[in-house]
Amino acid sequence: MFTGTVVQLVRAVLRDAGLGQEGLPAGHRDLELMSGGVDASTFLVHRAAGDVVVKLEGTGLEAESGALRAWSSHSHHVPDVLGFGRLAQAGCAEPVPYLVLEVLRDHAGGVAPTASELLEATPDLGSRIGEALGAELCRLHEAVHHEGFGNFGDSPGAERTYDSWGAYLSDYLGLHRDFVTATGVSDRRLRLALDALRDTSYDDAPRLLHGDVSVRNLAVYQRDPLAVGLFDPNPLGGDPSWDLAPVANKAALGDELCRRGGESGSAATDAAVWSGLQAAYGALPDGRMVAAQLVQAVLQAEARHHGRGDGDLGEREVAVADDFVRELVDRLVR
Ligand SMILES: Nc1ncnc2c1ncn2[C@@H]1O[C@H](COP(=O)(O)OP(=O)(O)O)[C@@H](O)[C@H]1O
Ligand SMILES: [Mg+2]
Repeated sequence: MFTGTVVQLVRAVLRDAGLGQEGLPAGHRDLELMSGGVDASTFLVHRAAGDVVVKLEGTGLEAESGALRAWSSHSHHVPDVLGFGRLAQAGCAEPVPYLVLEVLRDHAGGVAPTASELLEATPDLGSRIGEALGAELCRLHEAVHHEGFGNFGDSPGAERTYDSWGAYLSDYLGLHRDFVTATGVSDRRLRLALDALRDTSYDDAPRLLHGDVSVRNLAVYQRDPLAVGLFDPNPLGGDPSWDLAPVANKAALGDELCRRGGESGSAATDAAVWSGLQAAYGALPDGRMVAAQLVQAVLQAEARHHGRGDGDLGEREVAVADDFVRELVDRLVR
């Protein structure tokens, strides 16, 4: 149940996007919250002229809209952008950013489930989901981000662009230097790691990357043959390894947790998704993968430290993530 204010805001957004003529939600029954993430809120909006998805208030919605539009000529499986803008609101100092998207549907006409939901019900589809994800990433990575390397649009950090991917990664890790040394990496080895990140040879052209590749952001349009598409990007320009790294890291962390006797219900599925992805995408040189994996492993380990004590995130998960950071530094700096 939503307050009248949310309904009014969604109606104003649709008018601002030029979709007012096509019918507006009448009341709270016409809105369904799809997620209220830390950042954005996503609503499924029922209208006489057809449902749409409205995302509100996030940072990064402008970048998301730019990436989805750029990918529309490479893949049929990204949602169409029906509107993006910023709406001035009485009582709000800043206008509220919004994004209106086509609803992703499955073949039966329902809202497409995510691959994460499908895998919970059918874990043995891991390898096929990974292959389909790899094929979709190949299509998305055809798009070049001509503005250069790094974040763009209204994403945090977009005020700086980089002339190389190595400079971006090295700068990024440098921002987390205190955390990395706290995991037991010496200052000297950290300096060598920063140099190695900068000096590794990457793809010359900045590819338009998704930036948040996960089975949670993968819609399943069709089961047989399997058809999937990525949505909810946190896009940036850079080396393709960045989009493979989260899947590689999830598999590695799950595997290590199991080896230490911890509970990771999805470890076998995560490993299957990763091997399917590699089979379909093709392997990237180890140095490029390790570079991307290291920076993402640091972010993940930091998140685990912050989430310590929450729910079922135990000390073992925290230790596995810290050890993985050290292992990746060792692989990068031989
Ligand atoms: N265009 C869309 N069509 C159908 N469902 C969507 C669409 N966009 C988002 N969703 C659903 O809403 C959920 C949250 O949206 P998402 O864009 O991933 O935002 P966030 O992860 O930042 O909360 C997704 O997991 C998905 O189930
Ligand atoms: Mg998401």
